[in-house]
Amino acid sequence: MELIPLAPGAESLAAHRQRLGPLPTLPSGQLIAELEASGLLGRGGAGFPVGRKWRAVAERSSGGAVVLANGAEGEPLSLKDRTLMAGRPHLVIDGALLAARAVAADNIIFYVGGEHRAAQAALRDALAERSRDLQGGARIATAPGGYVSGEESAAVHFVNAGDARPTTIPPRPFERGVGGRPTLVQNVESLALAALIARRGHAWYQGLGHGQARGLGLVTVSGAVNHAGVREVEFGSTLGDAAAAAGGVSGDVGAVLLGGYFGGWADVDQQWGLPLDAHSMRARGLALGCGVVHFLPAQTCGVEATARIMTYLASQSARQCGPCVFGLAAIAGATQRLGARSPKADDLERIARWSGQLTGRGACRHPDGAVALLQSAMHVFADDFAAHQRRRCLTTSVPARVAVA
Ligand SMILES: Cc1cc2nc3c(=O)[nH]c(=O)nc-3n(C[C@H](O)[C@H](O)[C@H](O)COP(=O)(O)O)c2cc1C
Ligand code: SF4
Repeated sequence: MELIPLAPGAESLAAHRQRLGPLPTLPSGQLIAELEASGLLGRGGAGFPVGRKWRAVAERSSGGAVVLANGAEGEPLSLKDRTLMAGRPHLVIDGALLAARAVAADNIIFYVGGEHRAAQAALRDALAERSRDLQGGARIATAPGGYVSGEESAAVHFVNAGDARPTTIPPRPFERGVGGRPTLVQNVESLALAALIARRGHAWYQGLGHGQARGLGLVTVSGAVNHAGVREVEFGSTLGDAAAAAGGVSGDVGAVLLGGYFGGWADVDQQWGLPLDAHSMRARGLALGCGVVHFLPAQTCGVEATARIMTYLASQSARQCGPCVFGLAAIAGATQRLGARSPKADDLERIARWSGQLTGRGACRHPDGAVALLQSAMHVFADDFAAHQRRRCLTTSVPARVAVA
């Protein structure tokens, strides 16, 4: 296992160095070229090429850039980032150090969710062990809870002004971020993978994976499985493989939520052989996102589960863009009425219309992600939504446990 140690607890610096050797000393240009050739995509959700982002920051940096390692992990169904930081903190620090060298940054900020206590403690101890490498240029910033606080401009805004709400873009953080300086915002798993590629080369990463897919990453498997948790998979492993890695499904499954609350629902029978891989999933209109795989038990109503998620997402709006504040609340309200089988006459038609109007209307992608999830639900649970509009439910409903709201 590259990203998660087999033994519980945080890997020590000695064990880390024994396993992987010292931090490599590739020149910046060569390291960025290795990352580009590896095809590594960001693991925070959007899947942007990591090497290309490092190059963009390096080109703007004149020695005072900032690296912001994003370990906020606000996605309720994801555990991968906190598990990685708690288990292999030195690998994450290696990635951040390499990034800092590559983009000429003199400041590294580890932005870690305040509730991720084991991750916070492991990173704090590991940073103390690495004081010679870091030379005082690194610190932990505790990310406030909430879905949008991990969005990149929100993270930068928090570090700058103590306010974890997104700001309008442009400028994007790579142009002007922390303290007005070019800032590389990179998910902690992306950084850990970059640290492995720096040591082993792009060919190592390209040699992993199944079928057309290349590389490896973490997924969080939950719901109707026997052993929910974080699993390391080679990309191109199938949805069925992910279920098997989590001890197999624990009963009949109705649907699967892929990529988290900004991902989408999929039909489990149709997608059992789906390769878990950003490119293959995008080609099927699905998203790997931050690697969430949640199996919905067949006896749980998909409309009600979706209503809970939409209510949660509406509650997480940073309340600064009208379409997001009012549009999401209206959509969540109508979806809730549908979930409760007490809709107004045209609620189903309304959520379809409204969700088509909301995309691209906020300062950040929060409303876009929320309506994409709803649209996938209306497709996968089409019969259920139609039945709920008629005040009927096609499932023996057991309350969904997919949302934290
Ligand atoms: C509403 C919202 C919440 C986000 N939350 C996180 C998060 O908790 N952690 C994270 O790494 N990225 C999160 N992202 C993505 C970040 O904006 C950014 O793309 C990412 O940190 C970049 O790292 P990557 O390229 O390695 O994925 C979020 C995006 C949005 C729109
Ligand atoms: S779109 Fe929503 S979450 Fe994003 S900045 Fe605007 S109000 Fe905040």
